[in-house]
Parts: sequence; structure tokens; C-alpha cells
Amino acid sequence: MGKKAKIMHKYLHQDHKYAYICPAINKTNRQRMKIDVVVATEKHLKYVQAINDTIDEAAKARGTGIARRTDEYITSKIQQGKAIIALNREEFVGFCYVESWGHENFVANSGLIVKQSYRGLGIAKRIKKEAFELSRKKFPHAKLFGLTTGEQVMRINTELGYVPVTFAKLTDDEQFWEGCKSCVNYDILQRTNMTKCLCTGMVYDPELVARRDAALKKTGGKRSGIARLLKKFACF
Ligand SMILES: CC(C)(COP(=O)(O)OP(=O)(O)OC[C@H]1O[C@@H](n2cnc3c(N)ncnc32)[C@H](O)[C@@H]1OP(=O)(O)O)[C@@H](O)C(=O)NCCC(=O)NCCS
Repeated sequence: MGKKAKIMHKYLHQDHKYAYICPAINKTNRQRMKIDVVVATEKHLKYVQAINDTIDEAAKARGTGIARRTDEYITSKIQQGKAIIALNREEFVGFCYVESWGHENFVANSGLIVKQSYRGLGIAKRIKKEAFELSRKKFPHAKLFGLTTGEQVMRINTELGYVPVTFAKLTDDEQFWEGCKSCVNYDILQRTNMTKCLCTGMVYDPELVARRDAALKKTGGKRSGIARLLKKFACF
């Protein structure tokens, strides 16, 4: 992203009401835009079809990564209070849900989607932040993790405190890895004995973050020996 675009992006992050860089959104719409990002409830069940259609479109465009879920699955996530939805007043804009793996020791924020005409406005960032807070509240001891090839998602995760890790540090829940079967790159994962693929694995480990924060506090912000060691061995 160029310097000018970056400055514009920072500005947009401060005020998501105006979509200056998005040609699909005209001036009148811009002035009317009011994006809310909330935990989805029963009243949002009417958006299930729109959510899945938007996921479908993105899957076709990218040809990998994200895949359509069943309407029943999206519905159950909303009913369980494990989904985040972004709306521009009554219009569907974006979505993400929380899923636990490995006896709730691991939690993933999955199915992240932002409608094409609303991209580049910081909406995914707001959705991921809400999903992060919801996950921490529902599963305070779990490690949060994700697999992605997307630069945007890597940037958002990094800002939230995730760090890149090898696949060995992710959940060993077979059901999670079953999900990779629908990806066009699955043969790579198989060839590497489930150790590598095109996706980068990222983890937010609350225990390590707490230890790092405590160590940083002790040293008044400077990294201590233990923090340097944690950095070296997988963490920061
Ligand atoms: C990935 C996706 C959710 C991003 O949504 P978005 O609302 O456009 O993202 P944001 O505007 O919040 O941008 C997030 C970060 O990515 C950066 N970014 C935005 N567009 C970018 C681009 N085209 N290339 C590189 N970085 C980009 C932003 O600058 C921001 O980082 P910063 O805060 O450091 O500046 C959206 O493109 C999408 O729905 N894609 C299809 C589905 C998908 O790939 N889902 C993810 C599966 S892992």
C-alpha cells in the first residue's frame, strides 16, 4: 500500500462513515453510511442467506481459503451468541464467527467476510476486534488461532497480539484439519505430513502474553532475559 493510500486508510479507520476510496459507494450513500459491528442475535437470522452468498462469491473469486457453510451452521453460530455481524443500517456488510477446538483449548475466529463494496474501510479490523473480545470472554484460557494466506488478516492478527507459529503449535483436533480438505491446496498439506501449507498459522496465547506483560512491567518496558527467551522460543 502506497504512502498516500496509507494516510487515507488511517483517516478512514478513525471515521468509517465515509468511503472515499471505494468507487462502488457513491456520495449519497457515503453520507448515509452508519456501520455497526455487534454480536449477532436472533434478530439477525434474516441475514443468514446474505452471509453465505457473500462467502460464496469470495470463495469463487479467490478459489481457495474461505468456503460456503451450511445455512444451518451459520444459524446455530448466531443462536449460540458466537457470531459477529457488521451492518450498514439494515444492509449486511460483514461477518465472522467463533469456534472452539480440542476440548476448548483452542479457539478460532472463522468465516471472516466483508462485502466487496465495503472493503478497505477497516471493517474487517472492527469485526476481528469484536470476535477477539468475544472469544476472550467466552474462552478466557484458550489459545486463539487462525490459518490464513491473506495479508489483511495477518496484519489484523498481529495488531491483536497473534504471532506466527508452525502448524505443530496449532490444535491437533482432527475435525479442524478436516476443514482443510475443501481447500485447493490440500495436497500440499498432505505431502508435508500436515506440517506446512500456503497458509500461515498464527496464535494468541493468553498465558504467554500475560508472562510477557509481567516481564515487561518488571523491566519498565525493556525486554528481560525471560522475555527475550520467550521471543526466541515461538512467542513474540
Ligand atoms: C480479508 C477481508 C475480510 C479484509 O476486509 P477489509 O474490511 O477490507 O479489511 P480492513 O479494511 O479492515 O483492512 C485490514 C488491514 O489490511 C490492510 N489492507 C486492506 N486492504 C489491503 C490490500 N488489498 N492489500 C494489503 N493490505 C490491505 C489494511 O491497511 C489494514 O491494515 P492496517 O490496519 O495495518 O492498515 C476482505 O478482503 C474479504 O472479505 N476477503 C474475502 C474473504 C477472505 O479472504 N476472508 C479471510 C479468510 S482468512
